[in-house]
Amino acid sequence: MTSHHPASLDADHFTFDYRPLDELADGERYSTYWDVEPLMRGPRPVPDWLVTDRAAVDTELGVLKTGKEAEVFVLERAVRGGDGCLLAAKRYRGAEHRNFHRNASYTEGRRTRNSRDARAVARKTTFGRKVESAQWAWAEWESLKRCHEAGVPVPYPVQIDGTEILMELVTVDGEPAPRLAGLRPAPDLLEHWFDQLREAMAALAGRGLAHGDLSPYNILAAGERLVIIDLPQMVDIVANPKGADFLLRDCHNVCTWFGRRGLEVDEHALFAELMASSW
Ligand SMILES: Nc1ncnc2c1ncn2[C@@H]1O[C@H](COP(=O)(O)OP(=O)(O)OP(=O)(O)O)[C@@H](O)[C@H]1O
Ligand SMILES: [Mg+2]
Repeated sequence: MTSHHPASLDADHFTFDYRPLDELADGERYSTYWDVEPLMRGPRPVPDWLVTDRAAVDTELGVLKTGKEAEVFVLERAVRGGDGCLLAAKRYRGAEHRNFHRNASYTEGRRTRNSRDARAVARKTTFGRKVESAQWAWAEWESLKRCHEAGVPVPYPVQIDGTEILMELVTVDGEPAPRLAGLRPAPDLLEHWFDQLREAMAALAGRGLAHGDLSPYNILAAGERLVIIDLPQMVDIVANPKGADFLLRDCHNVCTWFGRRGLEVDEHALFAELMASSW
């Protein structure tokens, strides 16, 4: 008799799926990593630190930030008594009353595949808002993957499930990394950080892209290294009619912060350099 193995079974990742539900406490769930489609999991190679065990438990450790469009939670994904890792869970608001402040100019050219969805978004029904949140989440997921692939320093994208994105939690000494906005680095570090940002922006521009909402609030300082976050509105510099305006604003926000901290920078020179590399 021949034994039959389903073709879809990935032997590398198959572990005994024993999930006794009564063991979960409040704020816990079993890891959702293998519940989502392969396309909704992050790029390979999967980093060593990421716990991918089927029996791992996700524990909510707290809210990192409540924003207008999303809430970011700190989550620990760990095997009981074993390996663990910290993740940032960015959850886009679903059926809420608020509207996204990001306006239509970001989404020009974005298609809604399903006309029922498109009508619901236009009518701003509860269902429509859920669709819209999922679209923003998906847009951020795609941007994270593109940036990661392009070598732009972003958190490693772990997975997406509807309106929730899980990504690497950027930390310093085990604590969530601070935003650039509140920091006053020494001149050497300031210059080092500016070089990193210019390189990251050039890598994006080289692919025809701009962050679209770059500011000291969307850049984290992981020690000497900067990490760019909050990417749902990434724009195509050429195809989007306002693409160049967004890029210029990004340059302005970045250069203003560095300028105020004493580094001589020229936003127009940076803009020109990035535009030139976007062709
Ligand atoms: N991967 C991460 N690692 C560490 N901290 C993070 C991470 N992602 C988000 N944060 C923290 O959560 C905050 C909000 O995240 P983000 O900017 O992506 O969401 P947002 O809802 O768009 O916020 P806002 O409306 O304030 O711009 C960030 O400023 C940062 O402090
Ligand atoms: Mg933000």
